[in-house]
Amino acid sequence: MERFIINGGKKLSGKVKISGAKNSALKLIAASILADSKITLRNVPQIEDVNIMLEMLEILGAKINVEAASKVIEIEPEYINNYEAPYELVRKMRASILVAGPLLSKFGRVKVAIPGGCNIGSRQIDLHLKGFKDLGAEYLVEHGYVNCHIDKNRNGNRLHGTIINLDFPSRGATENIMMAACLASGQTVINNAAREPEISDLALFLNSMGAKIQGAGTDYITINGVKSLRGTDYEVMPDSIEAGTFITAAALCGEKVEIQNARWRNLEVFYSKLKEIGVKITIIDENNIRVEAPLERYKPVNISTLPYPGFPTDLQPVITVLLSVVPGVSIVTENVFENRFMYVDELNRMGADIKIEGHHAVIRGVEKLSGAPVRSFDLRAGAAVVLAGLIAEGTTEVSDIYHIKRGYENFDEKLRLLGADIKLVE
Ligand code: UD1
Repeated sequence: MERFIINGGKKLSGKVKISGAKNSALKLIAASILADSKITLRNVPQIEDVNIMLEMLEILGAKINVEAASKVIEIEPEYINNYEAPYELVRKMRASILVAGPLLSKFGRVKVAIPGGCNIGSRQIDLHLKGFKDLGAEYLVEHGYVNCHIDKNRNGNRLHGTIINLDFPSRGATENIMMAACLASGQTVINNAAREPEISDLALFLNSMGAKIQGAGTDYITINGVKSLRGTDYEVMPDSIEAGTFITAAALCGEKVEIQNARWRNLEVFYSKLKEIGVKITIIDENNIRVEAPLERYKPVNISTLPYPGFPTDLQPVITVLLSVVPGVSIVTENVFENRFMYVDELNRMGADIKIEGHHAVIRGVEKLSGAPVRSFDLRAGAAVVLAGLIAEGTTEVSDIYHIKRGYENFDEKLRLLGADIKLVE
């Protein structure tokens, strides 16, 4: 089993370039199903989750060409002839359910495995299904699968536009419904939509294929259905969560680290919290920022995760590591996923003093962490224990790092280039 061995205490300096966004690339690959001709995607991160989504499209029948060195992927969706998203892939990656909206809308039917829970909690798909139903589809849940189709007697061959009010601004539901509505007849409105920059990226991509979407990035999205979508050539936006992870690493042990492609405007609440802590951040321009060693001691803060533009739940684990060594008491409240503090026991094994009370983490800053063997529970928790290892005294061994490889491109290599002592061992 692969592990990371980290000898803590090294200072980081230099430049790191942020890769394409996982949470955008996955959706763009799924959305490619809607096109009638070749899609070219650029700046696609070379990560395991992208491989799983490409495998899914291949199972559906699409032809895929990957040019790994240039991070370009070509998808030919004209060959799709299978409409089932199998459990083996959905189990590996929940985001693979995002093929459902495009398949349903383009081919009138889809069979998709129900993902079930994961290491950060129970994750329903009720809002996705309710959206499909509002658009005129029927579905039946049996044997662990959802069978969904357009009732041709009632609705002809297309979904039909309508007003959809989401109970919660779910990102996945907003994306699945937005993709399904592109080929529906008439206008669809998504009210209380998720507002993440990746939703805007998906809308820009779909519009470049000929879709008519307005308002993405706000909580009110309108989609005027079109009869078909064409291929396009599109560059994936940079990954804000990877940027936030490297910024936090630099805040923990950086001397002078330049983060390129950080697109800081996509993370304004995160930046303002870091500034409240006392992290010295200089904005170089729209894309690039610099983090420098602080002049004064950091201060404790309280943080609550919320859907965008609130503090991102995906950066909750890494900010908790930073606060674990800030003198005083900080409270981090997790409002998006109910089970996202499992990694805290690992940090406590490294000497942190964090108590979980319901969905709050009460963090009493300690002077230092000490290296220990720890597990990576999920993608973001994995990044968090690596950051803890960078500042810990002695050696930290991180196991189950396949979680980290799912979403961070060359994580260890990028840290090594900044001066970290981190090794990948079998
Ligand atoms: C996406 C991101 C993930 C991030 C999360 C929240 C991807 C691949 N993943 O996940 O990194 O942590 O947004 O920013 O983009 N919910 C329901 N019913 C539904 C759908 C969601 O109850 O039908 C609940 C979930 O259980 C969860 C919350 O809504 O508690 C947020 O989920 P959602 O916004 O849908 O997250 P994902 O799209 O799965």
